[in-house]
Amino acid sequence: MALYNLYFSPTGGTKKVMAALAEALGGARSGNLADPGEVSVVFGRDDVVLLGVPSYGGRVPALAVEKIGKLKTEGARAVLVAVYGNRAFEDTLLELRQAAEKAGFRPVAAVAAVAEHSVARTVAKGRPDEQDLEALRNMAAVIRERLESGEVPEQLSVPGNEPFREYHGIPLKPTVTADCVGCGFCARMCPVQAIFNEYPSRTDLDKCISCMRCVKLCPCGGRILDADAVAGVTAMLEKAAPDRRGPELFL
Ligand SMILES: Cc1cc2nc3c(=O)[nH]c(=O)nc-3n(C[C@H](O)[C@H](O)[C@H](O)COP(=O)(O)O)c2cc1C
Repeated sequence: MALYNLYFSPTGGTKKVMAALAEALGGARSGNLADPGEVSVVFGRDDVVLLGVPSYGGRVPALAVEKIGKLKTEGARAVLVAVYGNRAFEDTLLELRQAAEKAGFRPVAAVAAVAEHSVARTVAKGRPDEQDLEALRNMAAVIRERLESGEVPEQLSVPGNEPFREYHGIPLKPTVTADCVGCGFCARMCPVQAIFNEYPSRTDLDKCISCMRCVKLCPCGGRILDADAVAGVTAMLEKAAPDRRGPELFL
């Protein structure tokens, strides 16, 4: 049995949660589906694949659904992980389960966990923190037992409802500052190729999914969000979800 850790993580929060789970399960080969390139491995029936996505509007980002759909497996077991910014993950795990099943995986467990909100970064700031990591390690121990037992539920039960929540993106799009040096790093790393390679100061706003990867990765502070708009979103999120939400396990 080989363990793989695949996640769509534009700004690294999902990656942190996945790394904690993978490490506690004994280590895994990892890959970020938000990076350019394809996954060439065919996951065998004995393999286990951790599949992690962030929640966008309570859904799986469309590109992550597409990338999971391109994975090749002969029936590997999958552990599904939804990472969200402390508001809610709503239909994310159900949509992820469906995408995984459609690709041929056999879901055996699911986790929902919180990471820093990538748009409103003071929300769930610094998470996953030590308390989250401890909970994730404990969950990994339970998941490991399930994996060792060989039990595969006929259909893993996860929260979520169909029809899925409508999601048409958010209106906040990064803008370019005078500090942009035009290096094109953001264009190369943009998961949806919304930034023009030749003119990195130009963005195709219809393609942009507001994942904040360009803002996070730019070493020069060349891309930012409007501070007033972020303050508005932050206030709305703090009102909608004032309490700390914690990791949850679904078996
Ligand atoms: C476009 C967008 C929509 C989001 N929607 C939600 C949401 O509906 N609920 C929530 O709790 N967090 C939401 N978040 C926060 C992310 O789920 C969270 O920050 C996640 O850790 C981001 O993953 P990453 O760091 O791997 O990019 C959203 C973030 C973005 C960029």
